[in-house]
Amino acid sequence: MPITNNIIQTHKNKISTFVETGSWLGDGIQQALDNSFDVIYSVEINEESHNKCKKRFVGNDNINLTFSSTEDFFKEIIIDNSHPLNNERCFIYLDAHSNCTAGRFKDINDVAPVLTELELISKLKINNHIIVVDDFRYMRNYNKWAKKFSGMNMKEELKQRFLNINSNYIIRYEPDSLDVEDLVVAFTRD
Ligand SMILES: C[S@@+](CC[C@H](N)C(=O)[O-])C[C@H]1O[C@@H](n2cnc3c(N)ncnc32)[C@H](O)[C@@H]1O
Repeated sequence: MPITNNIIQTHKNKISTFVETGSWLGDGIQQALDNSFDVIYSVEINEESHNKCKKRFVGNDNINLTFSSTEDFFKEIIIDNSHPLNNERCFIYLDAHSNCTAGRFKDINDVAPVLTELELISKLKINNHIIVVDDFRYMRNYNKWAKKFSGMNMKEELKQRFLNINSNYIIRYEPDSLDVEDLVVAFTRD
């Protein structure tokens, strides 16, 4: 499920780079294009989805598609001083989880990498990115891929990780068409 245009428009300001985890069929990428981001990065662990996105966006030189786990994706960026995530404020959309793949892709080690992603984001050289985490409804209810979070207070877990990135982060729970608090947004006022 792509992010809402409302959230993008509220927080985009002068940000030109959009980074997505979980490309799936490319709808989030299309939405970033429609909202006039200049450069888009998206990572996908499922080769079939990655190839579909490559085909869909062929010729778009401003779209960078990576076939990888999000964990390896961020680990490589952390040591790449020239990457926008280490040089400018970006818009990060965390949407990687396994429900689109419905158990068909056994090579996915981490079916819900959001907490790992936030830990890796804390190692980037810029600490005021806009970060949006999708599908909080599953994390709250421990459904489907979010079963691994059973018994955890996910608002508290996310909060700790956001504040570890930047103690000035403001955290808001926002609605989409599926739930009143499906999108978690972390932003600073600077
Ligand atoms: C909800 S879909 C993404 C939807 C897309 N962001 C959109 O807005 O249309 C989740 C995607 O994350 C991918 N995924 C799951 N676990 C992953 C991981 N550990 N690393 C990278 N991609 C992953 C799945 O294969 C799936 O394509």
